[in-house]
Amino acid sequence: DKGGWSSFMAKEISEEPEAVANTVRGRVGDDGLVHIPELEGLDELFGTISRVVVVACGTASYAGMVGKYAIEKWTKLPVEVALSHEFRYSDPVIDEHTLVVSISQSGETMDTLMAVKYAAAHGAKTLSICNTQGATIPRESDAVVYTHAGPEVAVASTKAFVAQITALYLFGLHLARVRGTLSEQALAENIAQLQSVPDKIAEVLTQQDEIAQLAHWMSDSRAVLFLGRHVGYPIALEGALKLKELAYIHAEGFAAGELKHGPIALIEPGQPVFVVVPSPRGSQTMHAKVVSNIQEIRARGAKIIAIAEEGDVAVLPFADTVVRVPLAAPLFEPLLAVIPTQIFAMELATAKGLDVDQPRNLAKSVTVE
Ligand code: M6R
Repeated sequence: DKGGWSSFMAKEISEEPEAVANTVRGRVGDDGLVHIPELEGLDELFGTISRVVVVACGTASYAGMVGKYAIEKWTKLPVEVALSHEFRYSDPVIDEHTLVVSISQSGETMDTLMAVKYAAAHGAKTLSICNTQGATIPRESDAVVYTHAGPEVAVASTKAFVAQITALYLFGLHLARVRGTLSEQALAENIAQLQSVPDKIAEVLTQQDEIAQLAHWMSDSRAVLFLGRHVGYPIALEGALKLKELAYIHAEGFAAGELKHGPIALIEPGQPVFVVVPSPRGSQTMHAKVVSNIQEIRARGAKIIAIAEEGDVAVLPFADTVVRVPLAAPLFEPLLAVIPTQIFAMELATAKGLDVDQPRNLAKSVTVE
């Protein structure tokens, strides 16, 4: 039931604040720190792992890429993110000290299931992050942390993505507490950040009409580029994937630092480019570098849509449009910056008269390898 919304996708985007809040619920103890009940009894195991390998496909893999930055920072464990199908056939180096974390909304993606089975057969411990109770992948894993995004019907993943990042962050904070790699204060500050995300997403959602106008303006574009850096990089990849899936427009996401190594050759007058701008409060250097990328492509005629935090005036002279997101600690910015890209893809597909819930050639869950 679309509950009065024009599409399941529109409904599911509107549910993103709850998807995050419900995923956090029940996982913060009386001490104000993260205790994931499903992971109780695994402290000893978590003490012995020496690395984490995340396996996933599509949008779930981009959630994994975001999670890598947080888990490495908080636990000091090396985290590698692999596409499930590449992992499975790459003769990966894994042993009993490797924790393989799979991410899957459906829990039925065959590529990811095969990666999990392979990992288990080669001695690794497996943990799954899944949105579907009792699905095959969690059943095949040693442990599971469910995302509580609620059923996702639209083929394009939206609320499951923010719930996956949320679950990865909860897992990272749980692991950091068990392994003693973060102070209680830092653990508490990070969970407070996560708890403030739902209201901030709700604020971003109020800009739907402005983003819809942007989509109308770009409905004839033949290609759209997305740039991001650090945690903004997976958001650039995700924004591009959403646009391909829904609007059948050629779209590419790039690491902003990679521009001069090739992609800048694509910039010609009128080329729309979304830029995920990192907060200057995180790293001034990274912020300055992204602003300088914007200047470079603007000088070559690109049309810039900057996704930047409130109050960041450095982007104003160069951006054609600025979509604002509320202030958040840098690691939490992707949970906000992704929302405008999802709305944009949905609105652009709608402007082109396409079915946003059921794009051509795609299935909600890919149960063949
Ligand atoms: O159910 P899963 O999370 O395992 O699905 C993985 C991908 O097939 C999925 O995220 C796909 O990329 C979506 N259609 C993206 O919108």
